[in-house]
Amino acid sequence: MNEWWRDAVVYEVYVRSFADADGDGTGDLAGLRSRLGHLADLGVDAVWTTPWYRSPMVDGGYDVEDHRAVDPLFGTDSDAVDLVAEAHRLGLRVIIDVVPNHTSDHHRWFRAALAAGPGSPERARYHFRPGRGEAPPTDWRSVFGGPAWTRVPDGEWYLHLFAPEQPDLNWDHPEVRAEFEDLLRFWFTRGVDGVRIDVAHGLLKDPRFPDLGSDDEEIVRPPDRSAHPHWDLDGVHDIYRAWRKVAGEFGPGRVFVAEAWVDRPDRLARYVRPDELHTAFNFEFLLCDWDAGALREVIDRTLEALTAVGAPATWVLSNHDVVRHVTRFAGESGLEPGRRRARAALLLMLALPGGAYLYQGEELGLEEVEDLPEAALADPTWERSGHTRRGRDGCRVPLPWSGTAPPFGFTAGDTPTWLPQPDHWRELTAEKQAADPGSMLGLYRAALAVRREHPALGDGTLAWLPARDGVLSFTREPGFGCLVNLSADPCELPEGTRVLLASAPLEDGRVPADVAVWLVRS
Ligand code: NOJ
Repeated sequence: MNEWWRDAVVYEVYVRSFADADGDGTGDLAGLRSRLGHLADLGVDAVWTTPWYRSPMVDGGYDVEDHRAVDPLFGTDSDAVDLVAEAHRLGLRVIIDVVPNHTSDHHRWFRAALAAGPGSPERARYHFRPGRGEAPPTDWRSVFGGPAWTRVPDGEWYLHLFAPEQPDLNWDHPEVRAEFEDLLRFWFTRGVDGVRIDVAHGLLKDPRFPDLGSDDEEIVRPPDRSAHPHWDLDGVHDIYRAWRKVAGEFGPGRVFVAEAWVDRPDRLARYVRPDELHTAFNFEFLLCDWDAGALREVIDRTLEALTAVGAPATWVLSNHDVVRHVTRFAGESGLEPGRRRARAALLLMLALPGGAYLYQGEELGLEEVEDLPEAALADPTWERSGHTRRGRDGCRVPLPWSGTAPPFGFTAGDTPTWLPQPDHWRELTAEKQAADPGSMLGLYRAALAVRREHPALGDGTLAWLPARDGVLSFTREPGFGCLVNLSADPCELPEGTRVLLASAPLEDGRVPADVAVWLVRS
């Protein structure tokens, strides 16, 4: 089907941490290829891979030096082609990551800009500006901490909304636009099915460069977007209209997914209007607490805003930038309650209309590793925040595949994994869970199998059923129901239904706290 993306379940692979074939302790493309069977067995439709391009790896590859070459850490150019071919052979589509907001400071354009000096055409591809005396041109902050400007020896400053090694491109420059359209063609020609757009809401900057008037470090999401000088400017949509045309050159079925941290579903919907991108991550759902009322509100707001533009919703619980949801849902109550809620959240997410994104390791019930030794921390946030924010490494620890001790089959070599794995993950290896239908992996496989077969699931609409406080209950036609009990007390099944799948055993025929069930008519 050409519109496969409307209800696809996509599995995010953080390449560094998925599987290592060459034995250097870091995941690579050959490792990923060798483990694609895990994804086919899981029952997902597609895989999204984080950047594999040539990079100094200051931000795990989101600092791209050459968008058309594979970094030697991850393999060779032909490994990428082989990976796409093998995925297709297994019936999996491939979505790659493109990083248009910034390049690496090693990129040929940035090196040329530094060499050419103030006022040169080379500098015009980035945002170079004079300072205000000794102060930077504006008070903008880097998402990773500290000022968003760095001064070069000739006195000018350049903008970087992320690390100083990630200078922001000037998207008002026609060569920047042409370059990215060209590299989309480069990868579509190599067979990829889709592109995830990094920082899709950040490409344009207010040319007047006004101050923010705030020193808030937590600025990934705009506090007041209408006035914001660099997030979610209206002009970004012209860029995506042009990109949609590029995808169209390769026939239907080549798609985009936007990483756009905007604060309202109606703003998100603007990215997925019919002539723009196909889908966008729904971070409101990811950020929502384990609370029935709050979840219902997010679900309704999302569906309303996206339906208005004819786009499907895309639900997501975790990714490589946020604390794993087992830990988020655990709160103070400990990891086991967190896992119980994560199981229920999966059944909720996969029953909602639209598509879903899974993040590697959630199918194993992995938690955030919160006690990584400081010496191991690699996220630029740690240094940039003056060691006040540990950053995102805790959700990026290499996967445990098999065996009873680290590296748990992640690597064949003796080199330690790039982040250390907790010993207790011996209980959570893919090998161990595959043998146990009651495991987290067993639940993911069972739920994805039902989702593939049941005509009510995927794209479409839902209807809420009356339910008491703390309980979410809805139907999808034909003949499917989902009930999630987020309250402290057990609740009854809706009349005339029987359970198709449950996130945990029922008690006396009732749905216990923090359990979700999928229902059919009895
Ligand atoms: C979002 C990516 O997901 C994140 O990992 C990265 O650090 C920033 N964009 C900057 O590229």
